[in-house]
Amino acid sequence: MKKIFIVTLLIVTTFVFVLAQQPNSIQQSVMRGKIVYTKYCLSCHQADGGGVPKLNPPLTAEEYINDKNKMIQIVLKGMTDRIAIDDEKYSNNMAPHNDLTNQQIADVLTYVRNSFGNNAGAVTVAEVQAVRNKK
Ligand code: HEC
Repeated sequence: MKKIFIVTLLIVTTFVFVLAQQPNSIQQSVMRGKIVYTKYCLSCHQADGGGVPKLNPPLTAEEYINDKNKMIQIVLKGMTDRIAIDDEKYSNNMAPHNDLTNQQIADVLTYVRNSFGNNAGAVTVAEVQAVRNKK
């Protein structure tokens, strides 16, 4: 009886351990993405994603948050379109960040899409690679 208990305990422990190690769960990606965000995006878009009036837009506009490909493209190629969000325009330029790895871009966008009140899905490495391949 004792043996069965120990074996069961071992199996359960292993299972929990393996689950916790999953490298690409959304939470793990969000955690890594926050580090990328702090280093490369925070200075303009701010810690709360709220941006800076008239300079840098907030990262909460549905039009961008819900369009993965558009977001990936903006990070890879930058943006100088002078977009308007709620009638406000932003005069800064967004620099291209194509030196980030596919993993970093997937992580930072997964972080943005699941922070600041946003609730969109994850962005995967394959999706970033696909947008890169288009050029
Ligand atoms: C130098 C300041 C700056 C940095 C750094 C920067 N951005 Fe931007 N970002 C901007 C500006 C300015 C715009 C709007 C450009 C325009 O209107 O043409 C923008 C637009 C965007 C948009 C589309 C609009 C929106 O509000 O959703 C996204 C998404 C975005 N940035 C994400 C990021 C991410 C992710 C990073 C970090 C990898 C980043 N930005 C780094 C300034 C910056």
